[in-house]
Amino acid sequence: MNIQKNVNLQPYLTLQTIAYADYFSTFQNISELIELLNFAKSQDLQVFFLGEGANTFCKSNFQGIVLKNDTKGVSIIRETNEYIYFQVASGENWHDFVMHTVSKNLFGLENLAFIPGSIGASPIQNINAYGFQMSDICTDVQVLDLETFEESTLENEDCKFKYRSSIFKNEARNKYFIASVTFKLSKINHINIDYGNTYGSVKQVLLEAGKDLSKLTSLDIAESIIRLRTKKLPDLNLTPNAGSIFVNVFCDKNEKERIETIEAKLREENPSLSKCEFYTENDNLYKIPAGWLVEAAGYKGKWFGNVGVSEKHALILVTNGKATGLELYDLVEKIQNSVYEMFGIRLEAEQNII
Ligand code: EPU
Repeated sequence: MNIQKNVNLQPYLTLQTIAYADYFSTFQNISELIELLNFAKSQDLQVFFLGEGANTFCKSNFQGIVLKNDTKGVSIIRETNEYIYFQVASGENWHDFVMHTVSKNLFGLENLAFIPGSIGASPIQNINAYGFQMSDICTDVQVLDLETFEESTLENEDCKFKYRSSIFKNEARNKYFIASVTFKLSKINHINIDYGNTYGSVKQVLLEAGKDLSKLTSLDIAESIIRLRTKKLPDLNLTPNAGSIFVNVFCDKNEKERIETIEAKLREENPSLSKCEFYTENDNLYKIPAGWLVEAAGYKGKWFGNVGVSEKHALILVTNGKATGLELYDLVEKIQNSVYEMFGIRLEAEQNII
């Protein structure tokens, strides 16, 4: 057990914000983790798990122990004529696993390629992009109870998956360590390439690449998603970021009309403002793209010292690698306040802010 003191978390977070943890350690298996949890208990320390650091930043120094998950392993636990079931350790990289499945022409994860993060984070926020969510193919999640150290399995229904949320974000927050996740990948082609709007169309990218839409492999789709995301999102290697910072906002028909009235006025004053493309869930349920609210509030492409809002996509906050967590937190609050003043809507941050 190698526990370091006073560690800067900057290299472990994709936003590269500066903040120190009182204690820091890594673990490669459950017994190493239990040893560390016992240490934390003995010192009465708060625990925070870190995966790839793609969804987290610290608002201030963390008075507790940060445990970085280095568990690895991908195994096939069952196979039928139609499906292959993979059990994947939570410390594995999300995108690497997606590419592993598409390299075998399995279907189910191809639309979720090129999302930074770890397997363990995926059920917490129910990773969702281009018309797919991980809960569609996750059969169960293996967990360790942080109080009793008991290992158990939560079936898909037990996880209470919703849009970008699950039991692990709500009533079971901080109750479990997610040890591994089981995915059911299909050998049969079940493609969904319908996602498309101003910010890109999956079909369009496939056609541009000269693909025959009747003979698509899952690798073709994953590659088109990678192309779309590369075009739309800032490059992690050049501009530190953590993908979407806010979640989209559900609303009913009346609320949609209210926003459309404000939109019409704003676009009259500023014709270059993007169009607000609502997501339609059903007759009376829509999602307002949070990216549009942030753009309409005037933040797209603006920098405030070491932090800013991407000029490519208003939902992505960026840093220059020199920012403190507090600077970023202040920008999150500033945007939330402006959007509230303008639209009466309180944006919900999707990040783990610790
Ligand atoms: N929009 C703007 N200005 C912007 C960006 C977006 O007006 O600068 C509006 C436009 O109306 C656009 C709409 O937002 O049509 C939707 O944009 P986009 O297709 O990029 O989707 P999103 O709703 O902003 C969600 C996910 C993304 C995911 C995409 C594609 C959330 C919070 N975000 O974004 O996830 O890649 O759909 O499925 O649901 C991530 O998790 O890091 C992430 C990028």
